[in-house]
Amino acid sequence: MCGIIGVIGHNKVSSLLIEGLKRLEYRGYDSAGIATLLNGKIDRRRSLGKIENLKRLLKKSPIKGNVGIGHTRWATHGIPSKTNAHPHSSGDVAVVHNGIIENYDELRKKLEKKKFIFESDTDTEVIAHLISYYLKKNLSPLKATITALKKVEGAFALGIIFSGINNYLICAKRGSPLAIGKGKNCNYIGSDSIALAPLTQKLCYLNEGDIAEITSKDFRVYNQNGKRVKRSITTTSLAKNKIKMGGYNHFMEKEIFEQPAVIGDALKYFIDTKKKKLLIPSFAKKIKKIKEIYIAACGTSYHASLIGKYWLEKYANIKTEVDIASEFRYRNIINIKNSLGIFLSQSGETADTLAVLRYFNQQKGKTLGIINSAESSIARESNNVMETHAGPEIGVASTKAFTTQLVALGALTLFMANFNKTMGRNEINKLSNALVEAPGQISKILKMDNIFHKIATNIKNAKNVLYIGRGTNYPVALEGALKLKEISYIHAEGYPAGEIKHGPIALVEKGVPVIVIAPSDQLIDKTISNVEELLSRGAKIIFISDKKGIKKINNKKITTICLPESHEIISPILYSIPVQLIAYHTAVLKGTDVD
Ligand code: F6R
Repeated sequence: MCGIIGVIGHNKVSSLLIEGLKRLEYRGYDSAGIATLLNGKIDRRRSLGKIENLKRLLKKSPIKGNVGIGHTRWATHGIPSKTNAHPHSSGDVAVVHNGIIENYDELRKKLEKKKFIFESDTDTEVIAHLISYYLKKNLSPLKATITALKKVEGAFALGIIFSGINNYLICAKRGSPLAIGKGKNCNYIGSDSIALAPLTQKLCYLNEGDIAEITSKDFRVYNQNGKRVKRSITTTSLAKNKIKMGGYNHFMEKEIFEQPAVIGDALKYFIDTKKKKLLIPSFAKKIKKIKEIYIAACGTSYHASLIGKYWLEKYANIKTEVDIASEFRYRNIINIKNSLGIFLSQSGETADTLAVLRYFNQQKGKTLGIINSAESSIARESNNVMETHAGPEIGVASTKAFTTQLVALGALTLFMANFNKTMGRNEINKLSNALVEAPGQISKILKMDNIFHKIATNIKNAKNVLYIGRGTNYPVALEGALKLKEISYIHAEGYPAGEIKHGPIALVEKGVPVIVIAPSDQLIDKTISNVEELLSRGAKIIFISDKKGIKKINNKKITTICLPESHEIISPILYSIPVQLIAYHTAVLKGTDVD
Protein backbone atom coordinates (compact mmCIF):
# COMPACT_ATOMS: atom_id res chain seq x y z
CA MET A 1 0.00 0.00 0.00
CA CYS A 2 1.30 3.44 -0.82
CA GLY A 3 2.30 6.09 1.72
CA ILE A 4 2.62 9.88 1.58
CA ILE A 5 4.64 12.34 3.61
CA GLY A 6 5.16 16.04 2.97
CA VAL A 7 7.11 18.76 4.80
CA ILE A 8 7.04 22.54 4.39
CA GLY A 9 9.26 25.04 6.21
CA HIS A 10 12.13 22.91 7.47
CA ASN A 11 15.75 23.18 6.41
CA LYS A 12 16.29 19.43 6.63
CA VAL A 13 13.38 18.46 4.44
CA SER A 14 15.06 15.61 2.65
CA SER A 15 16.03 13.75 5.83
CA LEU A 16 12.58 14.36 7.41
CA LEU A 17 10.98 12.90 4.29
CA ILE A 18 13.18 9.80 4.46
CA GLU A 19 12.39 9.30 8.16
CA GLY A 20 8.67 9.69 7.37
CA LEU A 21 8.91 7.13 4.57
CA LYS A 22 10.66 4.72 6.94
CA ARG A 23 7.67 4.99 9.28
CA LEU A 24 5.40 4.13 6.35
CA GLU A 25 7.38 1.02 5.45
CA TYR A 26 4.98 -1.22 7.40
CA ARG A 27 2.38 -0.69 4.66
CA GLY A 28 4.52 -2.52 2.15
CA TYR A 29 6.00 -0.90 -0.96
CA ASP A 30 8.17 -1.65 -3.93
CA SER A 31 9.75 1.73 -4.69
CA ALA A 32 10.13 5.14 -3.10
CA GLY A 33 10.91 8.70 -4.01
CA ILE A 34 11.05 12.30 -2.87
CA ALA A 35 10.91 15.72 -4.54
CA THR A 36 12.00 19.00 -2.99
CA LEU A 37 11.85 22.61 -3.95
CA LEU A 38 14.94 24.83 -3.69
CA ASN A 39 15.10 28.37 -5.01
CA GLY A 40 11.93 27.74 -6.96
CA LYS A 41 13.24 24.60 -8.69
CA ILE A 42 11.89 21.06 -8.26
CA ASP A 43 14.44 18.30 -7.84
CA ARG A 44 13.52 14.64 -7.38
CA ARG A 45 15.14 11.31 -6.55
CA ARG A 46 13.44 7.95 -6.97
CA SER A 47 14.58 4.39 -6.62
CA LEU A 48 13.30 0.85 -6.91
CA GLY A 49 13.19 -1.34 -3.82
CA LYS A 50 13.97 -0.43 -0.25
CA ILE A 51 14.25 3.06 1.20
CA GLU A 52 17.89 2.20 1.87
CA ASN A 53 18.40 2.39 -1.92
CA LEU A 54 16.88 5.86 -1.97
CA LYS A 55 19.06 6.88 0.97
CA ARG A 56 22.17 5.67 -0.88
CA LEU A 57 21.08 7.61 -3.95
CA LEU A 58 20.60 10.75 -1.86
CA LYS A 59 24.03 10.33 -0.32
CA LYS A 60 25.57 10.26 -3.78
CA SER A 61 23.33 12.94 -5.13
CA PRO A 62 21.80 15.00 -2.30
CA ILE A 63 18.84 17.32 -2.76
CA LYS A 64 18.09 20.31 -0.62
CA GLY A 65 15.16 22.59 -0.06
CA ASN A 66 12.63 23.43 2.60
CA VAL A 67 9.52 22.10 0.90
CA GLY A 68 9.19 18.48 -0.15
CA ILE A 69 6.97 15.47 -0.76
CA GLY A 70 7.78 11.78 -0.44
CA HIS A 71 6.12 8.52 -1.37
CA THR A 72 6.33 4.78 -0.95
CA ARG A 73 4.70 3.03 -3.92
CA TRP A 74 2.94 -0.30 -4.08
CA ALA A 75 2.53 -0.98 -7.79
CA THR A 76 -1.00 -0.99 -9.19
CA HIS A 77 -0.70 0.61 -12.63
CA GLY A 78 2.65 -0.29 -14.16
CA ILE A 79 5.41 -2.53 -12.84
CA PRO A 80 7.58 -1.61 -9.85
CA SER A 81 10.33 0.51 -11.42
CA LYS A 82 12.16 3.76 -10.94
CA THR A 83 10.15 5.45 -13.73
CA ASN A 84 6.86 4.39 -12.21
CA ALA A 85 7.94 5.53 -8.72
CA HIS A 86 6.48 8.78 -7.37
CA PRO A 87 6.77 11.78 -7.33
CA HIS A 88 5.59 12.23 -10.92
CA SER A 89 6.19 15.52 -12.56
CA SER A 90 4.98 17.58 -15.49
CA GLY A 91 6.06 21.13 -16.27
CA ASP A 92 6.01 23.05 -13.00
CA VAL A 93 4.33 20.34 -10.94
CA ALA A 94 5.42 17.31 -8.90
CA VAL A 95 2.81 14.99 -7.41
CA VAL A 96 2.63 12.08 -4.97
CA HIS A 97 -0.58 10.07 -5.01
CA ASN A 98 -2.26 7.29 -3.04
CA GLY A 99 -5.36 5.67 -4.50
CA ILE A 100 -6.53 4.71 -7.96
CA ILE A 101 -7.62 6.98 -10.82
CA GLU A 102 -10.36 5.02 -12.54
CA ASN A 103 -10.65 7.11 -15.73
CA TYR A 104 -6.89 7.49 -16.19
CA ASP A 105 -6.90 5.75 -19.56
CA GLU A 106 -9.43 8.16 -21.03
CA LEU A 107 -7.60 11.16 -19.49
CA ARG A 108 -4.24 9.92 -20.73
CA LYS A 109 -5.53 9.65 -24.30
CA LYS A 110 -6.93 13.19 -24.15
CA LEU A 111 -3.67 14.56 -22.70
CA GLU A 112 -1.57 12.72 -25.27
CA LYS A 113 -3.65 14.40 -27.98
CA LYS A 114 -2.66 17.71 -26.37
CA LYS A 115 1.01 16.67 -26.79
CA PHE A 116 1.73 15.73 -23.17
CA ILE A 117 4.41 13.07 -23.07
CA PHE A 118 4.00 10.29 -20.51
CA GLU A 119 7.14 8.77 -19.05
CA SER A 120 5.44 6.20 -16.78
CA ASP A 121 2.63 3.64 -16.92
CA THR A 122 1.00 5.01 -13.79
CA ASP A 123 -2.45 6.47 -13.33
CA THR A 124 -0.86 9.21 -11.20
CA GLU A 125 0.97 10.86 -14.06
CA VAL A 126 -2.33 12.03 -15.56
CA ILE A 127 -2.85 14.19 -12.46
CA ALA A 128 0.53 15.88 -12.86
CA HIS A 129 -0.14 16.57 -16.55
CA LEU A 130 -3.72 17.73 -15.95
CA ILE A 131 -2.67 20.27 -13.31
CA SER A 132 0.18 21.37 -15.53
CA TYR A 133 -2.30 21.80 -18.41
CA TYR A 134 -4.48 24.13 -16.36
CA LEU A 135 -1.45 26.05 -15.02
CA LYS A 136 -0.49 26.73 -18.62
CA LYS A 137 -3.94 28.22 -19.08
CA ASN A 138 -2.90 30.75 -16.42
CA LEU A 139 -5.00 29.35 -13.61
CA SER A 140 -3.54 29.70 -10.13
CA PRO A 141 -2.12 26.49 -8.60
CA LEU A 142 -5.25 26.16 -6.44
CA LYS A 143 -7.67 26.77 -9.33
CA ALA A 144 -5.63 24.48 -11.61
CA THR A 145 -5.77 21.70 -9.00
CA ILE A 146 -9.49 22.12 -8.34
CA THR A 147 -10.25 22.13 -12.07
CA ALA A 148 -8.04 19.10 -12.71
CA LEU A 149 -9.54 17.09 -9.87
CA LYS A 150 -13.04 17.71 -11.22
CA LYS A 151 -12.01 15.67 -14.27
CA VAL A 152 -10.69 12.82 -12.18
CA GLU A 153 -12.76 9.78 -11.14
CA GLY A 154 -11.54 7.47 -8.43
CA ALA A 155 -9.75 7.73 -5.13
CA PHE A 156 -6.83 9.92 -4.21
CA ALA A 157 -4.76 11.50 -1.52
CA LEU A 158 -2.34 13.96 -3.12
CA GLY A 159 0.66 16.05 -2.21
CA ILE A 160 1.65 18.61 -4.86
CA ILE A 161 4.52 21.10 -5.12
CA PHE A 162 4.97 23.81 -7.75
CA SER A 163 8.21 25.16 -9.13
CA GLY A 164 8.54 28.92 -8.77
CA ILE A 165 6.46 29.00 -5.55
CA ASN A 166 8.76 28.37 -2.63
CA ASN A 167 6.63 28.36 0.49
CA TYR A 168 3.62 26.49 -0.86
CA LEU A 169 2.22 22.98 -1.06
CA ILE A 170 -1.22 21.70 -2.02
CA CYS A 171 -2.82 18.52 -0.77
CA ALA A 172 -6.17 16.95 -1.58
CA LYS A 173 -8.22 14.00 -0.44
CA ARG A 174 -11.00 11.93 -1.94
CA GLY A 175 -11.40 8.31 -0.92
CA SER A 176 -7.88 7.88 0.51
CA PRO A 177 -6.84 9.17 3.91
CA LEU A 178 -4.75 12.30 4.37
CA ALA A 179 -4.00 14.53 7.34
CA ILE A 180 -2.26 17.87 7.72
CA GLY A 181 0.15 18.08 10.65
CA LYS A 182 0.48 21.50 12.27
CA GLY A 183 3.93 22.33 13.58
CA LYS A 184 5.73 25.47 14.71
CA ASN A 185 6.80 27.40 11.62
CA CYS A 186 6.65 24.08 9.82
CA ASN A 187 3.70 22.06 8.55
CA TYR A 188 3.34 18.52 7.26
CA ILE A 189 1.09 16.17 5.36
CA GLY A 190 0.84 12.43 5.89
CA SER A 191 -1.27 9.52 4.70
CA ASP A 192 -1.56 8.35 8.27
CA SER A 193 -0.93 9.58 11.74
CA ILE A 194 2.00 7.20 12.16
CA ALA A 195 3.95 9.04 9.50
CA LEU A 196 3.28 12.31 11.33
CA ALA A 197 3.35 11.26 14.99
CA PRO A 198 7.00 12.12 15.77
CA LEU A 199 6.71 15.45 13.91
CA THR A 200 3.54 16.78 15.50
CA GLN A 201 0.57 15.60 17.48
CA LYS A 202 -1.71 18.32 16.09
CA LEU A 203 -3.55 16.89 13.14
CA CYS A 204 -6.24 18.12 10.81
CA TYR A 205 -7.95 15.19 9.09
CA LEU A 206 -9.29 16.28 5.73
CA ASN A 207 -12.86 15.50 4.73
CA GLU A 208 -13.89 13.92 1.45
CA GLY A 209 -13.22 16.29 -1.46
CA ASP A 210 -11.10 18.71 0.58
CA ILE A 211 -8.21 20.57 -1.02
CA ALA A 212 -5.75 22.51 1.14
CA GLU A 213 -3.13 25.16 0.52
CA ILE A 214 -0.28 24.89 3.00
CA THR A 215 2.55 27.25 3.86
CA SER A 216 5.11 26.87 6.64
CA LYS A 217 2.98 29.07 8.90
CA ASP A 218 -0.57 28.16 8.04
CA PHE A 219 -3.03 26.20 5.97
CA ARG A 220 -6.37 26.88 4.31
CA VAL A 221 -8.88 24.19 3.40
CA TYR A 222 -11.39 24.39 0.52
CA ASN A 223 -14.14 22.05 -0.62
CA GLN A 224 -14.06 20.57 -4.10
CA ASN A 225 -15.73 23.70 -5.52
CA GLY A 226 -13.10 25.98 -4.06
CA LYS A 227 -15.22 27.31 -1.20
CA ARG A 228 -13.21 27.93 1.97
CA VAL A 229 -14.20 25.45 4.71
CA LYS A 230 -13.27 25.13 8.38
CA ARG A 231 -11.64 21.96 9.60
CA SER A 232 -10.67 21.45 13.18
CA ILE A 233 -7.28 20.44 14.50
CA THR A 234 -7.28 17.48 16.86
CA THR A 235 -4.51 16.31 19.12
CA THR A 236 -3.66 12.71 18.46
CA SER A 237 -2.81 10.63 21.47
CA LEU A 238 -1.03 8.07 19.34
CA ALA A 239 2.33 6.97 20.62
CA LYS A 240 5.18 8.65 18.80
CA ASN A 241 6.71 5.46 17.55
CA LYS A 242 3.60 3.51 16.87
CA ILE A 243 4.99 0.76 14.70
CA LYS A 244 7.85 0.01 17.01
CA MET A 245 7.20 -2.26 19.93
CA GLY A 246 7.75 0.71 22.24
CA GLY A 247 8.72 -1.20 25.37
CA TYR A 248 6.16 -3.97 24.97
CA ASN A 249 7.19 -7.59 24.49
CA HIS A 250 4.93 -8.27 21.53
CA PHE A 251 2.95 -6.26 19.00
CA MET A 252 -0.22 -7.96 20.27
CA GLU A 253 0.42 -6.64 23.78
CA LYS A 254 1.18 -3.19 22.43
CA GLU A 255 -1.93 -3.18 20.25
CA ILE A 256 -4.12 -4.23 23.18
CA PHE A 257 -2.68 -1.46 25.34
CA GLU A 258 -2.99 1.26 22.71
CA GLN A 259 -6.75 0.73 22.42
CA PRO A 260 -7.75 3.74 24.57
CA ALA A 261 -5.71 6.04 22.29
CA VAL A 262 -6.74 4.36 19.04
CA ILE A 263 -10.43 4.26 19.95
CA GLY A 264 -10.23 7.87 21.12
CA ASP A 265 -8.82 8.82 17.72
CA ALA A 266 -11.35 6.70 15.81
CA LEU A 267 -14.25 8.28 17.69
CA LYS A 268 -13.20 11.74 16.53
CA TYR A 269 -14.25 10.79 13.01
CA PHE A 270 -17.79 9.91 14.05
CA ILE A 271 -18.58 12.06 17.04
CA ASP A 272 -17.65 15.61 17.95
CA THR A 273 -16.22 14.51 21.27
CA LYS A 274 -16.37 17.99 22.78
CA LYS A 275 -19.95 18.78 21.77
CA LYS A 276 -20.81 15.04 21.96
CA LYS A 277 -22.63 15.41 18.62
CA LEU A 278 -22.74 12.95 15.74
CA LEU A 279 -20.59 13.82 12.71
CA ILE A 280 -22.73 12.26 10.02
CA PRO A 281 -20.56 11.51 6.96
CA SER A 282 -21.86 12.05 3.44
CA PHE A 283 -22.03 8.32 2.64
CA ALA A 284 -24.54 7.80 5.46
CA LYS A 285 -27.00 10.13 3.74
CA LYS A 286 -26.85 7.92 0.64
CA ILE A 287 -27.91 4.83 2.55
CA LYS A 288 -30.43 6.38 4.85
CA LYS A 289 -33.49 4.83 3.20
CA ILE A 290 -32.18 1.27 3.54
CA LYS A 291 -34.63 -1.19 5.07
CA GLU A 292 -32.52 -4.34 5.01
CA ILE A 293 -28.82 -4.98 5.64
CA TYR A 294 -26.63 -8.00 4.89
CA ILE A 295 -23.21 -8.11 6.52
CA ALA A 296 -20.51 -10.46 5.25
CA ALA A 297 -17.18 -10.93 7.05
CA CYS A 298 -14.69 -13.51 8.30
CA GLY A 299 -13.16 -14.39 11.67
CA THR A 300 -12.93 -11.54 14.15
CA SER A 301 -14.65 -9.19 11.71
CA TYR A 302 -17.57 -11.64 11.62
CA HIS A 303 -17.80 -11.45 15.41
CA ALA A 304 -17.89 -7.65 15.25
CA SER A 305 -20.63 -7.93 12.60
CA LEU A 306 -22.77 -10.05 14.93
CA ILE A 307 -22.63 -7.27 17.52
CA GLY A 308 -23.46 -4.74 14.79
CA LYS A 309 -26.57 -6.77 13.94
CA TYR A 310 -27.85 -6.49 17.54
CA TRP A 311 -27.30 -2.74 17.53
CA LEU A 312 -28.75 -2.03 14.08
CA GLU A 313 -31.87 -4.02 14.87
CA LYS A 314 -32.28 -2.76 18.42
CA TYR A 315 -31.52 0.92 18.02
CA ALA A 316 -32.11 1.66 14.31
CA ASN A 317 -34.88 -0.85 13.66
CA ILE A 318 -33.23 -2.21 10.49
CA LYS A 319 -33.46 -5.88 9.64
CA THR A 320 -29.87 -7.10 9.57
CA GLU A 321 -28.45 -10.47 8.62
CA VAL A 322 -24.86 -11.54 9.13
CA ASP A 323 -23.05 -14.25 7.20
CA ILE A 324 -19.61 -15.73 7.31
CA ALA A 325 -18.40 -14.51 3.92
CA SER A 326 -17.33 -17.94 2.66
CA GLU A 327 -20.88 -19.20 3.27
CA PHE A 328 -22.69 -16.26 1.73
CA ARG A 329 -22.31 -17.51 -1.81
CA TYR A 330 -24.52 -20.51 -1.03
CA ARG A 331 -27.48 -18.29 -0.23
CA ASN A 332 -30.05 -16.88 -2.56
CA ILE A 333 -30.71 -13.33 -1.46
CA ILE A 334 -34.00 -12.27 -2.94
CA ASN A 335 -33.87 -8.52 -2.68
CA ILE A 336 -30.25 -7.45 -3.17
CA LYS A 337 -31.15 -4.38 -5.27
CA ASN A 338 -33.03 -2.81 -2.39
CA SER A 339 -30.68 -3.78 0.40
CA LEU A 340 -27.32 -2.66 1.67
CA GLY A 341 -24.38 -5.06 1.76
CA ILE A 342 -21.83 -4.27 4.46
CA PHE A 343 -18.37 -5.75 4.14
CA LEU A 344 -16.40 -5.66 7.33
CA SER A 345 -12.68 -6.27 7.12
CA GLN A 346 -9.51 -5.09 8.82
CA SER A 347 -7.27 -5.71 5.82
CA GLY A 348 -9.86 -5.02 3.14
CA GLU A 349 -8.29 -7.83 1.14
CA THR A 350 -9.94 -10.98 2.53
CA ALA A 351 -10.85 -12.95 -0.59
CA ASP A 352 -14.18 -14.40 0.62
CA THR A 353 -15.43 -11.02 1.79
CA LEU A 354 -14.28 -9.41 -1.44
CA ALA A 355 -16.09 -12.11 -3.45
CA VAL A 356 -19.40 -11.30 -1.72
CA LEU A 357 -18.85 -7.58 -2.32
CA ARG A 358 -18.31 -8.27 -6.04
CA TYR A 359 -21.46 -10.37 -6.13
CA PHE A 360 -23.41 -7.51 -4.53
CA ASN A 361 -21.94 -5.04 -7.02
CA GLN A 362 -22.93 -7.29 -9.94
CA GLN A 363 -26.48 -7.50 -8.59
CA LYS A 364 -26.57 -3.68 -8.27
CA GLY A 365 -26.97 -3.72 -4.49
CA LYS A 366 -25.72 -0.76 -2.48
CA THR A 367 -22.44 -1.53 -0.75
CA LEU A 368 -20.57 -0.21 2.25
CA GLY A 369 -17.04 -1.33 3.13
CA ILE A 370 -16.18 -0.93 6.80
CA ILE A 371 -12.44 -1.34 6.63
CA ASN A 372 -9.21 -0.45 8.35
CA SER A 373 -7.00 -0.32 5.25
CA ALA A 374 -8.24 2.62 3.28
CA GLU A 375 -6.65 1.70 -0.02
CA SER A 376 -7.59 -1.96 0.00
CA SER A 377 -9.63 -3.73 -2.66
CA ILE A 378 -12.76 -3.76 -0.51
CA ALA A 379 -12.41 -0.02 0.07
CA ARG A 380 -11.91 0.63 -3.62
CA GLU A 381 -14.72 -1.57 -4.84
CA SER A 382 -17.38 -0.56 -2.31
CA ASN A 383 -19.82 2.22 -3.26
CA ASN A 384 -19.33 3.69 0.20
CA VAL A 385 -16.51 3.40 2.68
CA MET A 386 -16.32 3.83 6.42
CA GLU A 387 -12.81 3.60 7.81
CA THR A 388 -12.25 2.13 11.24
CA HIS A 389 -8.99 4.07 11.88
CA ALA A 390 -7.22 1.41 13.95
CA GLY A 391 -3.86 2.17 12.35
CA PRO A 392 -1.63 -0.72 11.31
CA GLU A 393 -2.20 -3.98 13.11
CA ILE A 394 1.08 -5.85 13.10
CA GLY A 395 0.21 -8.68 15.52
CA VAL A 396 -1.55 -11.58 13.81
CA ALA A 397 -4.43 -11.64 16.28
CA SER A 398 -6.92 -8.90 15.66
CA THR A 399 -7.41 -6.78 18.79
CA LYS A 400 -7.64 -3.02 18.25
CA ALA A 401 -9.04 -3.68 14.77
CA PHE A 402 -11.96 -5.49 16.43
CA THR A 403 -12.76 -2.78 18.98
CA THR A 404 -12.52 -0.01 16.39
CA GLN A 405 -14.84 -2.03 14.12
CA LEU A 406 -17.29 -1.96 17.02
CA VAL A 407 -16.87 1.80 17.36
CA ALA A 408 -17.62 2.22 13.63
CA LEU A 409 -20.64 -0.09 13.82
CA GLY A 410 -21.86 1.76 16.91
CA ALA A 411 -21.54 5.09 15.10
CA LEU A 412 -23.27 3.69 11.98
CA THR A 413 -26.12 2.48 14.19
CA LEU A 414 -26.52 5.97 15.62
CA PHE A 415 -26.45 7.57 12.15
CA MET A 416 -29.20 5.19 11.00
CA ALA A 417 -31.23 5.64 14.21
CA ASN A 418 -31.02 9.36 13.63
CA PHE A 419 -32.30 9.04 10.03
CA ASN A 420 -35.00 6.53 10.94
CA LYS A 421 -36.01 8.56 13.99
CA THR A 422 -36.04 5.38 16.04
CA MET A 423 -34.42 7.28 18.89
CA GLY A 424 -34.86 10.81 20.12
CA ARG A 425 -32.01 13.31 20.24
CA ASN A 426 -31.53 12.76 23.98
CA GLU A 427 -31.24 9.04 23.61
CA ILE A 428 -28.78 9.38 20.72
CA ASN A 429 -26.74 11.81 22.81
CA LYS A 430 -26.73 9.33 25.68
CA LEU A 431 -25.38 6.57 23.44
CA SER A 432 -22.76 8.82 21.84
CA ASN A 433 -21.67 9.91 25.33
CA ALA A 434 -21.34 6.25 26.26
CA LEU A 435 -19.12 5.61 23.23
CA VAL A 436 -17.00 8.64 24.09
CA GLU A 437 -16.45 7.18 27.55
CA ALA A 438 -15.10 3.87 26.19
CA PRO A 439 -11.39 4.88 26.07
CA GLY A 440 -11.42 5.95 29.74
CA GLN A 441 -13.15 2.74 30.81
CA ILE A 442 -10.71 0.61 28.80
CA SER A 443 -7.78 2.34 30.50
CA LYS A 444 -9.22 1.25 33.86
CA ILE A 445 -9.54 -2.35 32.66
CA LEU A 446 -5.98 -2.39 31.31
CA LYS A 447 -4.78 -1.48 34.79
CA MET A 448 -6.22 -4.81 35.97
CA ASP A 449 -3.75 -6.71 33.78
CA ASN A 450 -2.26 -8.71 36.68
CA ILE A 451 -5.71 -10.26 37.25
CA PHE A 452 -5.89 -11.47 33.64
CA HIS A 453 -2.35 -12.78 33.94
CA LYS A 454 -3.41 -14.82 36.97
CA ILE A 455 -6.37 -16.29 35.04
CA ALA A 456 -3.96 -17.24 32.26
CA THR A 457 -1.77 -19.07 34.79
CA ASN A 458 -4.84 -21.07 35.78
CA ILE A 459 -5.93 -22.03 32.28
CA LYS A 460 -2.61 -22.51 30.53
CA ASN A 461 -2.67 -26.29 31.03
CA ALA A 462 -6.32 -26.76 30.08
CA LYS A 463 -7.17 -28.90 27.07
CA ASN A 464 -10.51 -27.20 26.44
CA VAL A 465 -11.85 -23.81 27.43
CA LEU A 466 -15.43 -22.63 26.99
CA TYR A 467 -16.58 -19.03 26.65
CA ILE A 468 -20.25 -18.17 27.07
CA GLY A 469 -22.37 -15.05 26.83
CA ARG A 470 -25.79 -13.81 25.79
CA GLY A 471 -26.89 -11.01 23.47
CA THR A 472 -23.95 -8.84 22.42
CA ASN A 473 -21.80 -10.80 24.87
CA TYR A 474 -22.19 -13.98 22.84
CA PRO A 475 -19.98 -12.65 19.98
CA VAL A 476 -17.48 -11.54 22.66
CA ALA A 477 -17.45 -15.18 23.85
CA LEU A 478 -16.81 -16.29 20.26
CA GLU A 479 -14.02 -13.76 19.99
CA GLY A 480 -12.44 -14.85 23.29
CA ALA A 481 -12.40 -18.47 22.10
CA LEU A 482 -10.95 -17.50 18.71
CA LYS A 483 -8.16 -15.45 20.33
CA LEU A 484 -7.22 -18.32 22.67
CA LYS A 485 -7.20 -20.95 19.89
CA GLU A 486 -5.32 -18.73 17.50
CA ILE A 487 -2.35 -17.84 19.65
CA SER A 488 -2.14 -20.38 22.48
CA TYR A 489 -3.34 -23.44 20.52
CA ILE A 490 -5.73 -24.45 23.30
CA HIS A 491 -9.03 -25.80 22.02
CA ALA A 492 -11.70 -23.24 22.87
CA GLU A 493 -15.32 -22.71 21.90
CA GLY A 494 -17.65 -19.77 22.28
CA TYR A 495 -21.32 -20.54 22.92
CA PRO A 496 -24.53 -18.65 23.52
CA ALA A 497 -25.01 -19.30 27.24
CA GLY A 498 -28.53 -20.63 26.70
CA GLU A 499 -27.35 -23.20 24.15
CA ILE A 500 -24.86 -24.95 26.43
CA LYS A 501 -27.48 -27.30 27.81
CA HIS A 502 -28.44 -28.49 24.32
CA GLY A 503 -25.48 -30.83 23.95
CA PRO A 504 -22.14 -29.10 24.62
CA ILE A 505 -22.59 -29.46 28.38
CA ALA A 506 -21.69 -33.14 27.86
CA LEU A 507 -18.09 -31.98 27.35
CA VAL A 508 -17.98 -30.08 30.61
CA GLU A 509 -16.23 -32.22 33.15
CA LYS A 510 -14.56 -31.37 36.42
CA GLY A 511 -12.09 -28.54 36.10
CA VAL A 512 -12.96 -27.36 32.57
CA PRO A 513 -12.51 -23.56 32.60
CA VAL A 514 -15.62 -21.66 31.50
CA ILE A 515 -15.22 -17.94 30.96
CA VAL A 516 -18.55 -16.18 31.39
CA ILE A 517 -19.06 -12.75 29.81
CA ALA A 518 -21.84 -11.26 31.91
CA PRO A 519 -22.21 -7.50 32.42
CA SER A 520 -25.20 -6.66 34.60
CA ASP A 521 -27.74 -6.17 31.80
CA GLN A 522 -31.26 -7.54 31.45
CA LEU A 523 -29.88 -10.98 30.50
CA ILE A 524 -27.61 -11.55 33.49
CA ASP A 525 -30.10 -13.61 35.54
CA LYS A 526 -30.51 -16.04 32.67
CA THR A 527 -26.73 -16.33 32.31
CA ILE A 528 -26.40 -16.97 36.04
CA SER A 529 -28.78 -19.92 35.75
CA ASN A 530 -26.52 -21.36 33.03
CA VAL A 531 -23.58 -20.88 35.37
CA GLU A 532 -25.41 -22.99 37.97
CA GLU A 533 -25.80 -25.81 35.43
CA LEU A 534 -22.11 -25.66 34.63
CA LEU A 535 -21.11 -25.58 38.29
CA SER A 536 -23.07 -28.76 38.91
CA ARG A 537 -20.83 -30.42 36.30
CA GLY A 538 -17.68 -29.25 38.09
CA ALA A 539 -16.75 -26.45 35.66
CA LYS A 540 -14.19 -23.90 36.85
CA ILE A 541 -16.13 -20.67 36.36
CA ILE A 542 -14.42 -17.37 35.63
CA PHE A 543 -17.21 -14.83 35.85
CA ILE A 544 -16.46 -11.46 34.22
CA SER A 545 -19.03 -8.89 35.26
CA ASP A 546 -19.38 -5.64 37.20
CA LYS A 547 -20.16 -4.83 40.83
CA LYS A 548 -23.93 -5.27 40.40
CA GLY A 549 -23.50 -8.54 38.50
CA ILE A 550 -21.01 -10.00 40.94
CA LYS A 551 -23.35 -9.19 43.86
CA LYS A 552 -25.89 -11.51 42.25
CA ILE A 553 -23.57 -14.49 42.19
CA ASN A 554 -22.73 -15.81 45.59
CA ASN A 555 -20.57 -18.84 45.28
CA LYS A 556 -17.05 -19.10 46.64
CA LYS A 557 -16.06 -21.60 43.95
CA ILE A 558 -16.43 -18.94 41.28
CA THR A 559 -13.55 -16.67 40.29
CA THR A 560 -14.99 -13.22 39.67
CA ILE A 561 -13.49 -10.33 37.73
CA CYS A 562 -15.10 -6.96 38.37
CA LEU A 563 -15.07 -4.50 35.46
CA PRO A 564 -16.32 -0.91 35.70
CA GLU A 565 -20.07 -0.49 35.19
CA SER A 566 -20.95 0.81 31.75
CA HIS A 567 -23.73 1.52 29.30
CA GLU A 568 -24.70 -1.69 27.50
CA ILE A 569 -23.71 -0.27 24.08
CA ILE A 570 -20.05 -0.22 25.11
CA SER A 571 -19.99 -3.44 27.13
CA PRO A 572 -18.90 -5.63 24.16
CA ILE A 573 -16.02 -3.18 23.61
CA LEU A 574 -14.98 -3.26 27.26
CA TYR A 575 -15.44 -7.01 27.77
CA SER A 576 -13.22 -7.71 24.75
CA ILE A 577 -10.20 -6.45 26.70
CA PRO A 578 -10.14 -9.24 29.33
CA VAL A 579 -10.54 -11.96 26.69
CA GLN A 580 -7.72 -10.45 24.64
CA LEU A 581 -5.40 -10.24 27.64
CA ILE A 582 -6.25 -13.72 28.90
CA ALA A 583 -5.40 -15.14 25.47
CA TYR A 584 -2.24 -13.07 25.27
CA HIS A 585 -0.88 -14.09 28.68
CA THR A 586 -1.82 -17.75 28.14
CA ALA A 587 0.14 -17.79 24.90
CA VAL A 588 3.15 -16.11 26.51
CA LEU A 589 3.05 -18.56 29.43
CA LYS A 590 2.85 -21.47 27.00
CA GLY A 591 5.71 -20.06 24.96
CA THR A 592 3.83 -20.01 21.67
CA ASP A 593 4.59 -17.45 18.96
CA VAL A 594 2.26 -14.58 19.83
CA ASP A 595 2.71 -12.26 16.87
C1 F6R B 1 -8.33 -13.28 14.17
C2 F6R B 1 -8.11 -12.68 12.87
C3 F6R B 1 -8.87 -13.23 11.70
C4 F6R B 1 -9.38 -12.08 10.81
C5 F6R B 1 -10.03 -12.65 9.53
C6 F6R B 1 -10.64 -11.57 8.68
O1 F6R B 1 -7.55 -12.68 15.18
O2 F6R B 1 -7.33 -11.78 12.73
O3 F6R B 1 -9.91 -14.05 12.08
O4 F6R B 1 -10.32 -11.35 11.55
O5 F6R B 1 -9.05 -13.32 8.80
O6 F6R B 1 -9.69 -10.63 8.30
P1 F6R B 1 -10.11 -9.19 7.78
O7 F6R B 1 -10.78 -8.49 8.90
O8 F6R B 1 -8.82 -8.55 7.38
O9 F6R B 1 -11.05 -9.41 6.62
